[in-house]
Amino acid sequence: MTERRHDPELRGFASDNYAGVHPQILDALALANGGHQVSYGEDVYTESLQQVFKHHFGPAAHAYPVFNGTGANVVALQSMTERWDSVICAESAHINVDECGAPEKVAGLKLLTLPTPDGKLTPELVDRHAWGWGDEHRAQPRVVALTQSTELGTCYTPEEIAALCDQAHQHGMKVYLDGARLANAAATLGLPLKQFTNDVGVDVLSFGGTKNGMMLGEAIVVLDPDAARGMQFLRKAAMQLSSKMRFVSVQFEALLGSDLWLRNATHANAMTQRLYAEVKDLPGLEVVRTPQANALFAILPAEVTERLQKRFRFYTWNEHTGEVRWMTAFDTTEADIDTFAAAIAEELRR
Ligand SMILES: Cc1ncc(COP(=O)(O)O)c(C=O)c1O
Repeated sequence: MTERRHDPELRGFASDNYAGVHPQILDALALANGGHQVSYGEDVYTESLQQVFKHHFGPAAHAYPVFNGTGANVVALQSMTERWDSVICAESAHINVDECGAPEKVAGLKLLTLPTPDGKLTPELVDRHAWGWGDEHRAQPRVVALTQSTELGTCYTPEEIAALCDQAHQHGMKVYLDGARLANAAATLGLPLKQFTNDVGVDVLSFGGTKNGMMLGEAIVVLDPDAARGMQFLRKAAMQLSSKMRFVSVQFEALLGSDLWLRNATHANAMTQRLYAEVKDLPGLEVVRTPQANALFAILPAEVTERLQKRFRFYTWNEHTGEVRWMTAFDTTEADIDTFAAAIAEELRR
């Protein structure tokens, strides 16, 4: 007999994927249950999923559900490149630091990385790697990969993305956007998803469901059909084709078919802003950059971090500088924030 083995009231600040599943998503999963449906995406939920993504990203958009964000990134980048190509990205990009080398190993890509203060590429930075086409000694730069919102809790403006897309396209490159937290960026910018993706030139993106309240699942969304080849074959070859796909698709329908995606992201962002307001002026703590999504980065004395980590889960981001990352999720409450902020203040005073 299964029994509950965790405290459902306990929430930490380590990652938005520590959160559970939004009740509306669980309802949708139950709705899709029962009976038989054709497997591998030929079910009625995956069929209607295309309309949901077209509503947000325009009539040319085509979504490919996958299991996770690493899979979305690797399959999408593979579909946009040849074996001899390279991908330009920020040093802090998830594809560079958090995927165990999967883009290199599975997709066989060379990553050309750039240091940034805020996780954001600029045309000036991209220029450093945008050269050498036709030179057989150099992996050919083919894709500029952005993350929105970034791994460092910042957001690109639509104008910034447009400038990067224009530059990439002028050089014959394509633009891929890792949207594990695209919903958080939309909430921050106050703009429809389309206005800072396909309207400004993004070719292919991932849309993150897991961090936005789903149980699991992300979608690769091809915005320009000419930018990606062989997606369905690459998805299977990369072990990202789910046989019971109806359960991934129905979650996306529940999330994106209403304003649930935006409500969840808006709430997560607001909880980070609340934490920011409560801790930014505390003596002994330095906020590293103004949060623009659902992550706050701060520098604390190591002994304070050590004591706090005995009470709450969160990650040390940089051992050398003492920078930590605090993340909020769709289910973080105001009381969670107030308790945590009070604990931070108390440990700083000790
Ligand atoms: C920016 C970004 N991209 C992609 C992912 C996807 O990761 P996963 O493979 O764990 O779903 C994450 C997860 O933390 C992320 O932060």
